[in-house]
Amino acid sequence: MSRKTFYITTPIYYPSGKLHIGHSYTTVAADTMARYKRMQGYDVMFLTGTDEHGQKIEDRAREAGVTPKQFVDDIVAGIKDLWKLMNISNDRFIRTTDPYHEKAVQKIFKRLYEQGDIYKSVYRGKYCKPCEAFWTESQLVDGKCPDCGREVVEAEEEAYFFRLSSYADRLVKYYEEHPDFIEPQSRLNEMINNFIKPGLEDLCVSRTSFKWGIPVDFDPNHVVYVWVDALSNYITALGYENSEYPQSDFEKYWPADIHLVGKEIIRFHTIIWPAMLMALDLPLPHKVYGHGWVLLEGGKMSKSKGNVVDPVVLCGRYGVDAIRYFLLREIPFGSDGIFSNEALINRINSDLANDLGNLVSRTVSMIEKYFGGTLPTERKAETLDDELIAMANGLQAKVEAQLDHMQFPVALTEIFKLVSRSNKYIDETAPWVLGKDEANKPRLASVLYNLVECIRIVSILISPFLPNTAPKIWAQIGVCGEVTYWESAGTFGLLPQNVTVKKGDALFPRIDMEKELAELEAAEAAQKAEAEKAAEKAAPAKEPEGVATIISIEDFAKVELRVAQITACESVPKADKLLKLQLDDGMGGRQVVSGIHPWYEPDTLVGKKVIVVANLKPAKLRGVESQGMILAADAGENDVKVIFVDDSVPCGSKVR
Ligand code: MSP
Repeated sequence: MSRKTFYITTPIYYPSGKLHIGHSYTTVAADTMARYKRMQGYDVMFLTGTDEHGQKIEDRAREAGVTPKQFVDDIVAGIKDLWKLMNISNDRFIRTTDPYHEKAVQKIFKRLYEQGDIYKSVYRGKYCKPCEAFWTESQLVDGKCPDCGREVVEAEEEAYFFRLSSYADRLVKYYEEHPDFIEPQSRLNEMINNFIKPGLEDLCVSRTSFKWGIPVDFDPNHVVYVWVDALSNYITALGYENSEYPQSDFEKYWPADIHLVGKEIIRFHTIIWPAMLMALDLPLPHKVYGHGWVLLEGGKMSKSKGNVVDPVVLCGRYGVDAIRYFLLREIPFGSDGIFSNEALINRINSDLANDLGNLVSRTVSMIEKYFGGTLPTERKAETLDDELIAMANGLQAKVEAQLDHMQFPVALTEIFKLVSRSNKYIDETAPWVLGKDEANKPRLASVLYNLVECIRIVSILISPFLPNTAPKIWAQIGVCGEVTYWESAGTFGLLPQNVTVKKGDALFPRIDMEKELAELEAAEAAQKAEAEKAAEKAAPAKEPEGVATIISIEDFAKVELRVAQITACESVPKADKLLKLQLDDGMGGRQVVSGIHPWYEPDTLVGKKVIVVANLKPAKLRGVESQGMILAADAGENDVKVIFVDDSVPCGSKVR
C-alpha cells in the first residue's frame, strides 16, 4: 500500500537582498511541519524557492552593475546557505529562472489565452513599484500602497488580463464547501469582505515596461507578470507541463496539503491562485495558512527599510535551535509577534537552559553519580510517580492535536509542561536524599528511570522543532533506533530498564543578559558605523552634482511640511536679523522665528502663505520660542527669498 503523502510549500522569496528573520520564520515553521509529518510516516514533499523576475530585481541589478541573472545567482546562493545553516529539510528548491519552470509558465499562459481566460487589453491603474503590485483606487490607503505605504503612480500600458472577475462566485462557493481552506478563519472573512464583495477585477498578467521576466512566447513584447509566473511554481516543481520531474510526482503530491504564507500574500493564494487552478481544471490546495508577521519594536522588518535582523548572525551567536525555538514559541501562530534581543535571551535562559538543559544535565549527572552511568533493574514505584507517567503518556496526543493545526507555540507549551513537571518531580523525590542510603537505591533507580523516560518522550516530540538538539539528548541518555521514533513517544516505559547514560556538554549554556545586551549594542553600533562608512565611500559616484547626500523617500517623509498663513509679524528686539511670525497652520497656530529681516519688512509678510517645517524640534532664538521654520531659498549672493504658496492652498495642507 502506498504511503499517505503530505505536500507543504513556503512562498518563494524575492532575491532582492539578504533574507531576514521574518523570512526564516515561514521557512522554519514549514520545516517543522515537514519534519513532523515525515516522522509520522508520511511521504513528504517540502518545497521552497525563489521568485526571481520583475522590475525591482531588474532595477537592483542595474544599480549593482550586473545582469539580473548574475544578481539573483549571488543572492540565491546565500539563501540556499541560510537554509542549510538553519537545518531546513526542503526536498526541492525551485527558482523561477529555472528553464523548466519558464517553459512550463509559457505553456500555462498560452493555454489560458487560447481558452479565453487570458485576453489582451490596456491596463490603467495605480502601481507600487517597490511591491510590484497594482491596486485599485479603493484599495489604496490615504492614496498610497496599502502594503508598504509608499507612493503609487498612474500606469498605463497594453497588457494581457486574466478573467479573475468571472471566478468570484465559484470561489465563494468553494470557501463555503471547504471551511478549512483558509486559516486562520478570520482571514477568510477578510478575503470575502475586502476583496470579493467589492467586486473582483480582471488581473493584469503581463508587462511591456520591463524585460526581466518570462517572455510571452506568442507576443514577445510582453513578459509574464509576477503572479502567473510565481504561483505556478507550486505545480511546475512537481513536473506539471515539464519533464524536469516525473509527471507522477504531480499526480502523487498535488493538491498541496498546505501553502504556508505570510498574511500579506494570502489574497494571492486564496483568490488568484485558486482561480488559475480552476481555469486549468486542476484541484485546489487543501489549505492556505496565513501566518502573522515578526515585528521589531518599531514596526515591520523590510529589506528596503534596512531594519533587518540577520538570521545568520543570530544563529552564529545563539545556535540554530535556539532561534528556531524562539520563533515558534514566542509568536502566537497566525498573529503578529515582536522580536527583540531581550525576549530571545529570556527564552533561551528560561526555557532552554534552565528548564530543558538542566533537566537533562541533572538527570544524567545523577545516574552517573549514583549508579556509575547504568541503572540497575531493581525498582520501587510509588503513587507519586503516577501523575508524571500519565502526563508523559498523554503528551503525544496533545502535541499532535496542536501541530495538526499548526499551533506550534501551544504544542511547545504542552511539551514544556512535562519538562517543568519533571523538574518539579526531582524536587519532590529529592534523589540526593535517597542516594544517601543504600536501602533506597531501588526507589532512586525508579525516580531516575522515570526522568529519563520523560526526557526521551520530550526529545522525540521536540525533534521537529529542534533537529540539532534531539540527537544530542539521545546521545546523553543512551537511546537510539526505535525508541527515538515518533510513534514511540506515545508510550512511557519503552526504554530498557538498564539504560546507560553519558554526560555531554550543556545543551544551552546560560547567557548573561546584561553582558550580552551590552555586547549586542556595541556590535550593532560598530555595524552601523561600518555601513555608514561604506555608504559614504559608495555615495559620491552616484550623487548628482551639487546635491549633498542622497536620501531615501523614507528619509524625506520624516520631514512634515505644511502650508501656513502669516497672521502677524514683528521684529525681535536686539536681533537685527530675526522676525517673529505668528502662523495659522491649520492645527491651532504656532510661532516661528526666522532670520529673514534683512530681506523682508514685517508688514509686507502678513497675509502671505508659506511652507513651515512642522515637526522640527522647538528651539529658542535670542530667548524667543520658535516652533518650526519657514522655507526660503538662497536666491543669489546675499539674497534670500521666502517660498510663498498660492493663496488658494488651505492652511494645514501637507506638502510632499
Ligand atoms: N515572492 C513573493 C511570494 C510569491 S509566492 C508564490 C514574496 N516574496 S517575499 O520575499 O517578499 O517573501 C514573502 C514571505 O516572507 C511572506 O509571505 C512571509 O511568509 C515571509 N516574511 C517576510 N517578512 C516577514 C516578516 N517580517 N514576518 C514574517 N514573515 C515574513 O512575497
